[in-house]
Amino acid sequence: MGRIQLQSVSKKFGAAYALEQVDLDIADGEFLVLLGPSGCGKSTLLRLVAGLAEPSSGRILLDGKDITAAPPRERDLAMVFQSYALYPHLSVAKNIGFPLRSRKFSRQHIADAVATAAAALDLSELLSRRPAELSGGQRQRVALARAMVRDPGAFLMDEPLSNLDAKLRSATRTELIDVHRRIGTTFLYVTHDQVEAMTMATRIALMDNGRIEQVGTPAELYDTPRSVFVAGFLGAPPMNLFDATVTAHRGELHAIAPGVNIALGIEAKAHTDHPVTIGIRPEKLHIADTHAPVTGDVTAVENLGSEELIHIHTGVNTLCIRASRPSTARVGAPIGARVAPVDVHLFDPETGRRLTWVPQDAPARTGEPLFVA
Ligand SMILES: Nc1ncnc2c1ncn2[C@@H]1O[C@H](COP(=O)(O)OP(=O)(O)OP(=O)(O)O)[C@@H](O)[C@H]1O
Ligand SMILES: [Mg+2]
Repeated sequence: MGRIQLQSVSKKFGAAYALEQVDLDIADGEFLVLLGPSGCGKSTLLRLVAGLAEPSSGRILLDGKDITAAPPRERDLAMVFQSYALYPHLSVAKNIGFPLRSRKFSRQHIADAVATAAAALDLSELLSRRPAELSGGQRQRVALARAMVRDPGAFLMDEPLSNLDAKLRSATRTELIDVHRRIGTTFLYVTHDQVEAMTMATRIALMDNGRIEQVGTPAELYDTPRSVFVAGFLGAPPMNLFDATVTAHRGELHAIAPGVNIALGIEAKAHTDHPVTIGIRPEKLHIADTHAPVTGDVTAVENLGSEELIHIHTGVNTLCIRASRPSTARVGAPIGARVAPVDVHLFDPETGRRLTWVPQDAPARTGEPLFVA
C-alpha cells in the first residue's frame, strides 16, 4: 500500500517559504509527477516525504499513519536520486541485492529478489558486470532495481533521468511507464521536464513558488489550465497569451484586441466591457483568409519538418500558429487565422485565474462581474 497525504505542509528556510500550505493526496498506485520551474520546491516536498527533512508545520501521512516525524528507515519508501550512487566495486547483482544483504535475508531469498527485479528491468544479461561497464541508462535501471528489491510502498524519484541524453531519456521513460504498470506501486516523481510529466503521469501536480497551482491529469492541465501560469507552463511552443477586452456586439460576446475580433459564441444581453487575458494554443489557430477573426503580418516561419511555426504580428502582439507543412504563410505577407470559441481560454488579467462565463439570466445582481474566477 502506498497512499501519501500532505496536509497543510509548509517548510521554511529562515524567513523564506520553500513550501507553503501544501495539500496533496496521492492514491495508492498512482504515478504522480511534481512538475515546476527550478526552485519551486519539488525536491523539498520529496525530501519531506522521504523523511530527509522535517516540515515546519503540517502533517504527512502514509496509508493514513502520521509519519511527519518518523525517521526515513521507518517509512516504507524507496528513493531514487538523479545520481545513481552505485557501488563501483560491486557487480550489478550485488548492487541490486545490497538493501537486502544489509537486512540479513537468506541467500536464496536475495537471489530470487535480484533475479525478479533484474528481469523486470531487462538487466538479466548484465548481472555480473560492474557499474563502469554499463551505459547511463543501464546504471539508472540498476538503481531502480535496487529500489525495487525492497518492495517498498512507494518510490520517490528526483529527476532520475536528467543525466541521460535525449534518446536514452525517452527510452528509459517508456521503461519506467512499463515498470509502473506492471508493479502497480505508487510513484512520486519530480521533474521540470513537461514532456516527462505529460507522458508518464497519471496526475501532475504543477508547482510554482512553494505552492501547488493545479493538480490533475495531463489532459486536464493542458486543456483546462486553472491559471495563466499553468497555461503558459505546459505546451511547446507555449500558449499565446495576450490582453483583450470582452464586449457585446449584435447580441454576442466578442474578444477584442489589435488584429483580433473573436466571437465567443456566448449570448450578450447587456453592454459589457470586461478586460481579460486571452489564451489560445498555437495548434488551435487555423490559417484562414485575411477577413478571419485573427489577422496580422507574418514575421517568421520556422520549419519543424512535420509542421511549421508561423509567427505573426497583430499590431501589438506576436502570436504563434502551428500548421501542417507546407502552409501558405510567407514572411512579410498578411495572414488570417480562425479559432473555435471552445479553444479560447479567458483569464483574469489581475489574478491570472481562469474565468468562467456566468449566464446573465441568472438572477441579476448589478455590479457583479460577467465572469467568475
Ligand atoms: N537547505 C536549504 N537551505 C535554504 N534554502 C533552501 C534549502 N533547500 C532548498 N532551499 C530553497 O528552497 C526553495 C526550493 O528548493 P527545491 O530544491 O525544493 O527546488 P526544486 O523545485 O527542486 O528546484 P530544481 O528544479 O532546481 O531542483 C529554493 O528557493 C531553494 O533555494
Ligand atoms: Mg530539485
